[in-house]
Amino acid sequence: MRLEGTDSSTVEQAARLLAAGELVAFPTETVYGLGARADDDTAVARVFAAKGRPADHPLIVHVCDAAAAAPFVGAPGPMAERLMARFWPGPLTVIVPRAPGIATAAASGHPTIGLRCPSHPVAAALLRAAAALGVPGVAAPSANRFGRVSPTTASHVEAEFDASLAVLDGGACPVGIESTIVDCSRGRPVLLRPGTLASRDIEAALGEPLQARDDDAPQAPGTLAAHYAPNARVRLMATPMLRDAVALLGGNAEGVAVYSRTVRPAGRTITHRTMPDNARAAAFELFAVLRELDALGAKLIWVEQPPDTPEWDGVRDRLQRAAAA
Ligand code: TXA
Ligand code: MG
Repeated sequence: MRLEGTDSSTVEQAARLLAAGELVAFPTETVYGLGARADDDTAVARVFAAKGRPADHPLIVHVCDAAAAAPFVGAPGPMAERLMARFWPGPLTVIVPRAPGIATAAASGHPTIGLRCPSHPVAAALLRAAAALGVPGVAAPSANRFGRVSPTTASHVEAEFDASLAVLDGGACPVGIESTIVDCSRGRPVLLRPGTLASRDIEAALGEPLQARDDDAPQAPGTLAAHYAPNARVRLMATPMLRDAVALLGGNAEGVAVYSRTVRPAGRTITHRTMPDNARAAAFELFAVLRELDALGAKLIWVEQPPDTPEWDGVRDRLQRAAAA
């Protein structure tokens, strides 16, 4: 069931569904989320079931502002406070110590909780309307089945779940890849997942360097090596290797799609999409392109390695995970 995101009466309707413990898919600036009220473990269990997500992979709780985050947090600490003040609302998730007894299922029982205040106007309106009905926050993973490519349009969500799911339509998500996640619960700030925010801006707000994730940390989706996978096999290739591979293919290109910035397969049968030169533009379209190439029947997607510069960290991370599947 698709609901128009810009219509306040359908946003109200979606908020009432959340308040009643039902699931609602909604747009954020990053990707669409599959939401349930975070304080209702039974509602949250439906999210895990609908996604086919293992119960030990925690969800992010979405709130309408920093004040609304307070009930979920044991003690935020100065790192999380600085990040929330600088980047909320926006595509940043902070991991903080969890207040005992709340959002236990959303946190998969972990002593920490991920919190995010999205800037998308439809998400903001939904969270405010739900809060007015007593919903303290909305636990929402990306609205895709476990391990699949995150959805950036309402149609992508509808392709993942059955038609009875309420999907608030807010158009194409402007950022296009999931939020940056910074773990603030371990004394030093740790970058768990790169997004589109620049690490140097995060470090400037923190006043200290971000640590790299250590691989002893609890594993969870999005931090698994293989994730974000389309049906086709993805191969990431350095530019010269891709150029040679395309040349060797000749006319025998059935089932092969190429997504590249500088390598242009000459005409013929090769399905080709041009990756934008700009990292933000590439992030915006990345998941939609992977889904489109799947829909065209590609068996193999050859992707040109993005530039090795910080602004490409988020896109590179998602492509590496897609290629690891
Ligand atoms: O942009 C986003 O973050 C989107 C939109 C819907 O907000 N959400 C999203 O959720 O990407 P999901 O569930 O697909 O990815 C959440 C990531 C997972 O990698 C999970 O392990 C991590 O957040 N996470 C959540 N809570 C955590 C916690 N307490 N400790 C460590 N990682 C956590
Ligand atoms: Mg996800």
